[in-house]
Formats: sequence, C-alpha cells, structure tokens
Amino acid sequence: MRLTDMHTYSVLPDDINPLCVPRHVAVIMDGNGRWANQRGLPRIAGHRQGARVLKDLLCCCKDWGIGALTAYAFSTENWRRPTTEVDFLMVLFEKMLKKELMAMHKEGVRVRFIGDLSALSPALQREMSRAVEETANNTAIDFNVAVNYGSRSEIATACQQIAQKVEKGDMAASDVTEHTIAEHLYTRGSDPDLLIRTSGEQRLSNFLLWQLAYTEMVFTNAFWPDFDRAQFHQTLLTYQARDRRFGNAKDAISLQKAEEKTALTA
Ligand code: IPE
Ligand code: IPE
Ligand code: MG
Repeated sequence: MRLTDMHTYSVLPDDINPLCVPRHVAVIMDGNGRWANQRGLPRIAGHRQGARVLKDLLCCCKDWGIGALTAYAFSTENWRRPTTEVDFLMVLFEKMLKKELMAMHKEGVRVRFIGDLSALSPALQREMSRAVEETANNTAIDFNVAVNYGSRSEIATACQQIAQKVEKGDMAASDVTEHTIAEHLYTRGSDPDLLIRTSGEQRLSNFLLWQLAYTEMVFTNAFWPDFDRAQFHQTLLTYQARDRRFGNAKDAISLQKAEEKTALTA
C-alpha cells in the first residue's frame, strides 16, 4: 500500500487545543516483535506493520499541524540482534524509502536522518541522501528518522567536533555553551515537546538524552503496530493536560497564562 492510498486527510479533533499541540513529537516505536509473537507471526511481520503505522502517524501529524516527527527506527544497540533481523530491517528501510519518497515529497515532508549513517550499506546511504536532497525545501513537516542512532555517541561526537574547533583556535573553551552543544547534535537544537514510547517499557534506550531535558513523556502499553490515530489522539489529550512549568512556579505559570488570555481577548 502506498502512502497516497492510505492517506485519509483528517482534521484535528475538537477536544484538542490547536494552540497547544506539540511542535515536535518523538516516538520510540517499541513492541513490534511482541505484537507479531502474539499473533504467531515472525518478528519481521511486526516490523512491516510498524512501518505502515509510522507512515500513517506522519500523515496524521502533518494534518494536525505538528511541525516535526522524530522516529527511533534503529539504535546503535540494535546491531546485537540476530543478523537475519538486522538485515531485514535494513532492506525494509531501503524499500520504504524507494517506495514512499515521491508520496512524501508530494505531501511536503522534509526528510532527514539522524545517527551514524556511515555504518549502513552504500545502497541505503544513497537512498537516504536522495530523500534528504529531494525533500530539502519542503515545509509541511520535518520527518527525522533515527537510524544507527545512539545518544551518548551523538554527544561524544559533538564534543569531539567542538574540541577540534578549540584546538584549531576557532573558538575559546570558555565560549562553549549549552547552545554550542545543541547545535553540534544531529538535531541541531530542535527539542521534542512530547516523547511517546509504546509497548509498556519505561526507559529511553539511549534516545535523545540531551534533547529530552524538558520533554513531556507518555508511555503507553500499546504495541507499536497497534498505535493508531485514536491512540495518538489520546496521547495528545494526556499531553495537553500536563502542566509544563520549566522550573517555574505553578502560580507564576497560571498568572502568565491568565495574562496572555487577557491580552488575547483585549
Ligand atoms: C521495535 O520493536 C523495533 C526496533 C527496535 C527496530 P522491537 O523489535 O524492539 O519489538 P519488541 O520490543 O521485541 O517487542
Ligand atoms: C529501542 O527499542 C530502539 C528502537 C525503537 C529503535 P529496543 O527494543 O531496542 O529497546 P530495549 O532493548 O528494550 O531497551
Ligand atoms: Mg523492543
């Protein structure tokens, strides 16, 4: 099935406040294997269904005015899996990219990859570069796919790059700020507002450790291949019920919100 075939446009549900939708959503797509096991299917069937769910979530995010979706597709630790599963996943990424690129481009999706792509096959790297180049000027939604991604390695690499600049005399050590580090990460300073992890696990598994400093996290028991628009809708309701204080006092935030409201209605 192609993205275009399954794309039923949808409007933001009435109970979601359009002014407070997360600008950037990140997902740890977990539970593909268990979903398949439950059905007596091989794990790869779960990955296949998981890819379909990701396509639909991307369309949904676009329709609902979410600016960026970052999906954890393969971690630096996932190489520990049996070769057959790793190989299947790599082929699946390549096939999906080939098959869906035009449709994503038409939808205005800007595709990017985060992670150490140098360890991937040349054919997959080629497809990735093609997707990035072809969609570079799109503005409807940013779609970041984390492949061979590990947050600790990302931070270490950023530190190396900064240290090299200091060594060359391009910057002073005392000029290294939080902003400098954020700018040297793959995500270039864009932090998710909402992180969703499916399958009941409540850990980050080396995903976006720096970027999630103030992200709202929602853990759901659904396996990733079952995570549909209805589940996403529920997750957004949970997100909107949260009080994002960023270290501020609750009263100060309420006061600020009240003042903003008064200013809007004035
Ligand atoms: C997530 O599902 C997909 C990847 C990590 C590539 P899993 O394959 O981890 O599924 P479970 O956790 O074994 O059920
Ligand atoms: C995290 O899921 C990685 C991805 C979703 C790509 P895992 O299934 O690999 O995580 P752990 O091993 O349960 O922590
Ligand atoms: Mg898992």
